[in-house]
Amino acid sequence: MPEKPRVYVTRRIPEIGITLLREHFDVRVWDSDDVVPREILLEELKEADGVLALLTERFDGPTMDAAPKLKVIANMAVGFDNIDVAAATERGIVVCNTPGVLTDTTADFAWTLLMAAARRVVEGYKYVQEGKWKTWGPLLLLGQDVHHATLGLIGLGRIGSAVAQRAKGFSMRVLYYDAIRRQDLEQSLGIEYAPLEQVLREADFISLHVPLTPETRHLINAERLRIMKKTAVLVNTARGPVVDQKALYEALRDGVIWAAALDVTDPEPIPMDDPLLKLDNCLIVPHIASASFKTRDAMAALAARNIIAVLSGQQPETPVNPEVWERRRK
Ligand code: GLV
Repeated sequence: MPEKPRVYVTRRIPEIGITLLREHFDVRVWDSDDVVPREILLEELKEADGVLALLTERFDGPTMDAAPKLKVIANMAVGFDNIDVAAATERGIVVCNTPGVLTDTTADFAWTLLMAAARRVVEGYKYVQEGKWKTWGPLLLLGQDVHHATLGLIGLGRIGSAVAQRAKGFSMRVLYYDAIRRQDLEQSLGIEYAPLEQVLREADFISLHVPLTPETRHLINAERLRIMKKTAVLVNTARGPVVDQKALYEALRDGVIWAAALDVTDPEPIPMDDPLLKLDNCLIVPHIASASFKTRDAMAALAARNIIAVLSGQQPETPVNPEVWERRRK
C-alpha cells in the first residue's frame, strides 16, 4: 500500500480539523499551546506534503526550501502576511486561508472593543476590583457616545462591511476609505466613501480592516493620528504593524486622540515593558477577534478541507494563489 501523505499541524487546534485530516493522512501535530520551535518546524517540514499553519509561523522562501515535498500551506487565519505567497507560487505550493467563516465573529469583536473603549468598561472593572467604588459619581468614568456618532472604516472588505452593517443599530453615520471604492456596498450598507484623510478627520471611531501589506504598514502614523479628533477612538482588529505603535503611544499619552482598543500589536505578544500597557486609555487584548467556539471550529475545518482538496488533486475552497492549482491541473 502506498504511504499516506504526511501533514504537519503546527499547534493544538480544534479537534474537528485533526479528525478530518486523520481520515486521509498521516498527521503529526505540535501538541502544545506554545509556538512550535523553529528547528522542530524545519525538521517536520522535511517530510511534510501539507502543513496546517498559524499566523505565528513565518513561511518564507528558505522555510519552503526545507520542505521539498510541500504542496500546500493552509493558514488557519484570513490574514496571510506570515507567508511569502510569491515564494510559494514560484515553488508550486498552494497557499490557502480561511476567509468568510470568521467575518461576523471578528466584526462582533471590533464592536466589542469599540464599545468597551468608548464606555471605559475595563477601567470600570478595575475600579471595582480595586475597591475604589464608594458612591455613584456624576463625573465618574465618563465616556464617548456611540449612538449617532460617525464611524470611520479603513478597509471595506468582508469584515469592514460586516462592521458597517452593525453600525445601523446605533444610528451612526458611516464613512469608509478603501483603495478600491465599492459603490455597490455604499448603496446597500448606506455608507459614504471619503478619502483617507477625510475619514480620519471626521470620524469619532476609526476601525481598521485592511490586510498587512507594504502599502498598509504604518498606515496610521503620527501625522495621521494628528488629523483625528481629540475625542477619537481607534480600534485595530487588523494587524499590529498597520499602526505605528510608538506614534500611537505618544498620541494617547498626549491626548492627541482619546483612546485605542487593540486586538493586535507589533510585535505579538506585546512586551510587558511596552509603555502602552501603562495607559488607561489603551485597551489591549491578545489577538482574539475570531476566538469563538464555533468560528475556531469552522476555521480549523476549512483549513483541513483545503489541505484534503489540494493533496487529492481537487480545487481548494479558499486558495490565495489559485494560479498554482490551475497550473498544476494543466
Ligand atoms: C486573524 O488575525 C486572522 O487573520 O484570521
